[in-house]
Amino acid sequence: MYVCLCNAITDRAIRKAVEEQGVGNIRDLRRSLGVANQCGKCAQVAQTIIDQTIVDSSLFKEVS
Ligand code: FES
Repeated sequence: MYVCLCNAITDRAIRKAVEEQGVGNIRDLRRSLGVANQCGKCAQVAQTIIDQTIVDSSLFKEVS
């Protein structure tokens, strides 16, 4: 789904940035993909996706 409509950035792109580029907060994500660099309405949802991806990644590492 689109998270940032201003820049047409999806949740999948955000997860990929977290997993492959080590993005850990909204500032990093803004620098990496341009999320929240215009109206800013996407910032809270984007931060939630970052947090969930980090948690999911750490759970996966514990299991494997
Ligand atoms: Fe992301 Fe506007 S929706 S900057």
